[in-house]
Amino acid sequence: MNVVELNSVKKIYMLDKTEVHALRGVDISIKEGEFVCIAGPSGSGKTTILNLIGCIDKPTEGTVLIDNEDVSKFNDKKLTNYRLNKLGFIFQSFNLIPVLNVYENIEFPLLLQKNISKEERKARVMNLIKEVGLEDRIKNKPSELSGGQRQRVAIARALVTKPVIVLADEPTANLDSETGDKIISLMKQINEIEKTTFIFSTHDPDIMKHAQRIVRLHDGKVIN
Ligand SMILES: Nc1ncnc2c1ncn2[C@@H]1O[C@H](COP(=O)(O)OP(=O)(O)OP(=O)(O)O)[C@@H](O)[C@H]1O
Ligand SMILES: [Mg+2]
Repeated sequence: MNVVELNSVKKIYMLDKTEVHALRGVDISIKEGEFVCIAGPSGSGKTTILNLIGCIDKPTEGTVLIDNEDVSKFNDKKLTNYRLNKLGFIFQSFNLIPVLNVYENIEFPLLLQKNISKEERKARVMNLIKEVGLEDRIKNKPSELSGGQRQRVAIARALVTKPVIVLADEPTANLDSETGDKIISLMKQINEIEKTTFIFSTHDPDIMKHAQRIVRLHDGKVIN
């Protein structure tokens, strides 16, 4: 089954009075459990696609389907449920909360969910801290961590709600190549164990080659 489907998607941004054609008719289907890379040079539309899948933005034309349902028909409740429970987001710049330590940053999305006991919260957070190898940094603040460690916190935070889909916009862009490789391997490992669907973007050929499938973008169009 397709978890994500983009059909003839166009996105036009207005910049002052000029139209910027960020996506010029994009069709993409992603199956459950896939490990897909959205690849392309700067400005090709990678972030735009992830934002549309994450319902942070809307297409100008065409449809975005999640589990075969058109997201433009989602009511507020459904949209909130999708963002909070089905989706994990990993950003290029980590977006961690500076005043919270590692444990608290990872726990944070769970505090927004009802029906999760304190014990369950603790178990999930500790389990993920182990999975990403940060047992010795639990009480550190983001400012006391390396780039790779911050990105591992961001991955753990994205996974703590047990999402079906994880969107990662250039998750390795701020990391050296060795750390970037480790982060992708970690994502792949979680994909294999948990069957979580990963959709990540990059312009780095070394990172792309870890993908199960590459969707290549150029000037707002898929080229493969
Ligand atoms: N909010 C916006 N307003 C106007 N134009 C935008 C906006 N966001 C993106 N664009 C334009 O849309 C096009 C696609 O941008 P997008 O951010 O999706 O590219 P990208 O592939 O993620 O690039 P990068 O690798 O640099 O992150 C670019 O030409 C960009 O300038
Ligand atoms: Mg981008």
